[in-house]
Amino acid sequence: MKLPFAESYKIKMVENLRRSTREEREQWIKEARYNLFNLRSDRVFIDLLTDSGTGAMSDQQWSAMMLGDESYAGASSYYKMKEAIRDILGFPYFLPTHQGRAAENVLFSVLVKDGDVVPGNSHFDTTKGHIEFRKACAVDCTIDEAFDTQVEHPFKGNLDLDKLEDVLKSHPASRIPFVVVTLTCNSSGGQPVSMRNLKDVHAMAQNYGVRVLFDSARFAENAYFIKKREEGYQDKEIREIVREMFEYADMMTMSSKKDAIVNIGGFIGLKEEKLFREASTYNIMFEGYITYGGMSGRDMNALAQGLYEGTHFDYLDARIRQVAYLGSRLEAFGIPVQKPFGGHAIFVDANKFLPELPREQFRAQTLAVELYLEAGVRAVEIGTLLADRDPQTRENRYPELELLRLTIPRRVYTNNHMELVATALKNVYDRRNDISSGLKIINEAPIMRHFTVELEKV
Ligand code: F0G
Repeated sequence: MKLPFAESYKIKMVENLRRSTREEREQWIKEARYNLFNLRSDRVFIDLLTDSGTGAMSDQQWSAMMLGDESYAGASSYYKMKEAIRDILGFPYFLPTHQGRAAENVLFSVLVKDGDVVPGNSHFDTTKGHIEFRKACAVDCTIDEAFDTQVEHPFKGNLDLDKLEDVLKSHPASRIPFVVVTLTCNSSGGQPVSMRNLKDVHAMAQNYGVRVLFDSARFAENAYFIKKREEGYQDKEIREIVREMFEYADMMTMSSKKDAIVNIGGFIGLKEEKLFREASTYNIMFEGYITYGGMSGRDMNALAQGLYEGTHFDYLDARIRQVAYLGSRLEAFGIPVQKPFGGHAIFVDANKFLPELPREQFRAQTLAVELYLEAGVRAVEIGTLLADRDPQTRENRYPELELLRLTIPRRVYTNNHMELVATALKNVYDRRNDISSGLKIINEAPIMRHFTVELEKV
């Protein structure tokens, strides 16, 4: 008999979870103004809000932390991180930052100006926020297939080369600071970009004299999908694939809280010394001296080790299989989810789940609240709340996809937890016709409203 799959790690430390009753949860979610970000985590049973900084570090990472060098300048931990970045990703220059959006803030301070245009594949919200904050404009060039959750395409994160060329043609290169390629593409469902597409985008951008930036939070998961799905990569090591991917980037920003499996940290990777010098000034102003940039020595050590662990095939295989396990359980219950399954999360199609609910009542957020009430599971809305208002008209932007993201932390939950989540969502699905009203906003911030928005039941 063929042996079944099992994770190639075991659990050394556990954290207890508290169960709650439906009555308690009704009270708590009301107090939280129907915004799951406002919930205390001890009021959550299974937390699928994000895979960012929520992973379980290994014994190797914890022991690396004890060797952290906390010198202000020139710490050995900085050099460990530098070596790992050069070794795994191939960037000769780097700047540590406290997380991904800080890397964006520093780099975009050098590159993005009022009136610029930044094409990319469904820019992540902080990326878009940092672009729009500088009065520049993000143009989504993702392939159309990404916007239909039921279309099967192996690389739904790909950029549409015609859409990209339109942008590159219709603006002078001086107004396009870079093309952003998000790996994997979070906003379109944790979907990968193919090597072919990375190569073509880079060649096209080069042709127009424009740089390419990889927003690299989940680059290793992207490499796993290339190995699994792209012709010619089956027999390549993950690290070989990663090195090839980054040949097609001029620079990278990284939220290390994802594929480097640390609780905090980020960095910018660069190939040009001049840009490194320019960005260094902003790093010192916003983050800290260039050899720590908002990170402690112990965190840099854990990050360096995490980059090696995060690019192991066995680890990635266990990780992505678990996400797919949840996806296949939901599919078996007939629940509409983005296909193929993403790398870090399963995205439930709220437009198909609650089609009768008016869009202005926030379908995906309503679903998030229902799932919490059902079983204390916290997921996150990737829909109209997140899409925010148009900066000019101040009207709600209704994105093509209205999704509920069930985001799986790395090495944290078991498949029994996945089973519970799937069953809870099935119960909500079975009573979906009784969910006839949603939510309305009573308070919101002018930008990035989803984090702090306050809602009430319609
Ligand atoms: N880029 C992508 C693709 C991301 O998913 C994130 C964060 C960032 C940049 C920003 O990094 O959080 O370290 O400042 N995504 C988290 C999420 C928050 O839940 O998807 P950060």
